[in-house]
Amino acid sequence: MADATLLTTIRKARRELADDGPQRTRAAGDFASVALPEVDGDALRDLLMAEQVRVVVEVGLGYGSSALAIGEALVSLGTPEGKHLIIDAYQTQFQNAGWEAIAAAGLATRCTLLQERSQLALPRLVSEDVVADAAFVDGSHVFHNVFVDLYFLRELVRPGGLIVLDDCQWPSVLTAARYFEVNVGWQQQPIDGPTRLRAFRLPRPRVEPSFEAFRPFWNT
Ligand SMILES: C[S@@+](CC[C@H](N)C(=O)[O-])C[C@H]1O[C@@H](n2cnc3c(N)ncnc32)[C@H](O)[C@@H]1O
Repeated sequence: MADATLLTTIRKARRELADDGPQRTRAAGDFASVALPEVDGDALRDLLMAEQVRVVVEVGLGYGSSALAIGEALVSLGTPEGKHLIIDAYQTQFQNAGWEAIAAAGLATRCTLLQERSQLALPRLVSEDVVADAAFVDGSHVFHNVFVDLYFLRELVRPGGLIVLDDCQWPSVLTAARYFEVNVGWQQQPIDGPTRLRAFRLPRPRVEPSFEAFRPFWNT
């Protein structure tokens, strides 16, 4: 059952973060350009709730806007085994503003923060047999980093699970996702409401293509 008091605290923290911004920013205007907007956070929360997720991996904590939306989904679902693993290599550059937002929302004991590059943390989680129901990706936007993140998330997220990406308006992010759509059967999942997010459903069972079946995926 959902913890009503905790849910109220999380919603209040999300409201305050959206209205007033974080306690500290890296630079003027940084919050607006980096954090997931509230409306997209709502879309993410609703999507994860519809999926009845238990374990969510998030890449890119930043100011914690997306993390609070994921936390709201997990607490609303009320599953005691709910887990939220967050990977962020550069949270200190944000003077820990994202983690403080999580703590202020009462979520610190329900989240695990791995402060390392996702390209190194994700393969370790795979080797530890972690299985997630969904992932949210908003870390490095450099093509090869996004590609490596998606490569390992494809193994970490269970077949039939969801991978949600922010910022597919960037060719670097979109092109990385496109490989998996064209070559390994990821399917775009419609998202209710206005949002810039894109969600991909992983095939069940997992598709292992042969190299001979490779299809070029850029400019398609
Ligand atoms: C766009 S911000 C995330 C914003 C966040 N989703 C929010 O709503 O506030 C990108 C984040 O990814 C982190 N990051 C960048 N490159 C990374 C990498 N290679 N591994 C892990 N985290 C990375 C940065 O430290 C930053 O916090």
